[in-house]
Amino acid sequence: MIHTDDRGPALAAARAQLAMALAGDDASADVLTRFDRWAIDLWDGLSAVYDAASVLPSLIDVIASVHAARRPDLRQRDRDRVLRPDWFQSADAIGYVAYADLFAGNLQGIRERIGYLRDLGVTYLHLMPLLTPRPGANDGGYAVMDYRSVRPDLGTMDDLAALSTDLHAAGISLTLDLVLNHVAREHEWARLAKANDPHYRDYFYVYDDRELPDAYEATLPEIFPAFAPRNFTWDEQLDAWVWTTFNEWQWDVNWSNPHLFVEFADIVGFLANQGADCIRLDAIAFVWKRLGTNCQNQPEVHDITQALRACARIMAPAVIFKAEAIVGPQDVVAYLGQGEHAGKVSDLAYHNSLMVQIWSALAARDGRLLATALSRFAPIPVTSAWATYLRCHDDIGWAIDDADAAAVGWNGYDHRTFLADFYAGEFAGSFATGMHFQSNPETGDRRTSGSAASLAGLEAAIDAADPAALDTAIDRLTCAYAMVFGFGGLPLLYMGDELGMLNDRSYLDDDAKRADNRWVHRPAMNWHLVDGTSKASVVSARVLAAITRLIEVRKTLPALHASVGTDAFTTSNPAVLVFRRRHAAGSIVEVYNLSESPQSFDAAALWPLTGPYMLDHLSGQEIARHDEATIPPYGTWWLTSSS
Ligand code: GLC
Ligand code: GLC
Repeated sequence: MIHTDDRGPALAAARAQLAMALAGDDASADVLTRFDRWAIDLWDGLSAVYDAASVLPSLIDVIASVHAARRPDLRQRDRDRVLRPDWFQSADAIGYVAYADLFAGNLQGIRERIGYLRDLGVTYLHLMPLLTPRPGANDGGYAVMDYRSVRPDLGTMDDLAALSTDLHAAGISLTLDLVLNHVAREHEWARLAKANDPHYRDYFYVYDDRELPDAYEATLPEIFPAFAPRNFTWDEQLDAWVWTTFNEWQWDVNWSNPHLFVEFADIVGFLANQGADCIRLDAIAFVWKRLGTNCQNQPEVHDITQALRACARIMAPAVIFKAEAIVGPQDVVAYLGQGEHAGKVSDLAYHNSLMVQIWSALAARDGRLLATALSRFAPIPVTSAWATYLRCHDDIGWAIDDADAAAVGWNGYDHRTFLADFYAGEFAGSFATGMHFQSNPETGDRRTSGSAASLAGLEAAIDAADPAALDTAIDRLTCAYAMVFGFGGLPLLYMGDELGMLNDRSYLDDDAKRADNRWVHRPAMNWHLVDGTSKASVVSARVLAAITRLIEVRKTLPALHASVGTDAFTTSNPAVLVFRRRHAAGSIVEVYNLSESPQSFDAAALWPLTGPYMLDHLSGQEIARHDEATIPPYGTWWLTSSS
């Protein structure tokens, strides 16, 4: 299958090298077939950024050694996944995101909680960073000191492999983070760089004087202006400035160095061999730097991802990639592949805009901005999917586009200000309890921390001992999650949201956490809420029932398969939002009331449903199809034609 063009000789040599390395392996024919399939992607990605011919031999060594170490059960998983590549796109795919320690103490504890996840309907588990981080503050584990060992209090690599085997047996795939923009300054590479080893100095962006740092700073934003301003840090041992986009102890690595690419390809293979099914590419937007830009979303990012994914496809095709690129609508689609990269980069990407727009629509009781923003999204490859979510471990950045806001007659800056105030509970009549994160007086930018339940109004209603407000808040939270589960894509449930867990202020007692209020929405799982032994169990049971219903119904609706897109529009009434998904297996129309009052609207907008009745799968009720329909407060209808 290798084409005899320019790429021919180098790829032919690489194939021969691989064939030799695989000699005697009973799966060698499989691996070579995969090489033939993915070699062109590998070559094109590599040669866009490196001298491909000189990198290939080391990569082939990596591929061969990763394959050699791959267990028989994982090799079988490779074969299965090749036959069912849409496993993460299907309507029955449900994701759950948790910190190992906060969820169940350690990896062994998680094994004991697999039943809980299975009962919930979860098929995909993202365990937050669990590789060995630097001691002390470590950005929630995103400052990794060793990619080949597990944080000691969580367990060992053997525990991780055993956990993944148990998860697989329960029908749950495992996602692990790969922090690839930076390493902890205690990582061995950084240690060797500090010892003045030139090979390892080249793994980082190191500058003797301020000339280049100042030139870059002219156009670089600050990610953590409040506790980690600027983007470069002076290091005494290096005797130089080093690039540090995030915290000063997170050193950006130099992806223009091909040795670094080979190192990370090997780490991907290593994690795959522990049983990871999906690799979350943390802060992927930042990995390529270019003077005069904000150093995010550079085209080379996609070439690198393409090459890395081709390696993964050859050595461990069961593994998919998820891009964590929290960037604007114009930039994010490229992470799933556009143009020459279509279908060749990440399989999943976070739908940050959907998340922001859901919160915006709930605050405004108006779906027009959401519909406008989503309608501007370019189509994604049919083999990819959005990871949809309402909350995650990070803050919410109010990424409202000025042009989108203008299209509905709003001012973008004012609306962002409104949202930040609203979700900090500072806007008159707000239902939310949240906190400002990283207020930047220079840009006026303010992000928001807070748990889904607290932001949706449960905390305020409980504090006020107001049962009616509590009912409303639970309905609001359910409505928000219904959009996440109904959008089509892989929905991610953030740990504790299914129980309506509230903000947790205990991080203020921890020196390593106090400065970073994202910890307010990272509470430890309260299992008393599950077993009914907590005062708040009654509320949790209601939230859990509502979320479970969404999950169960979603699994029965093939139209939610991610291979088709969602049209979002409002009706004659801006508070009534519609998602429409046209699918060969049957179309679905979803209606959401974004407000706490009943809303009437023109039901003719529900085309393409036909017939006098529609079936709402969430309530199991038939709804008569009058021209004018009325949907209850925060009502959610998932409709098909009633037959
Ligand atoms: C990702 C993580 C975030 C972390 C950042 C730096 O965006 O989600 O928590 O702070 O990367 O690693
Ligand atoms: C920004 C970054 C994202 C990071 C987050 C942390 O949104 O783009 O990668 O996780 O900040 O708060």
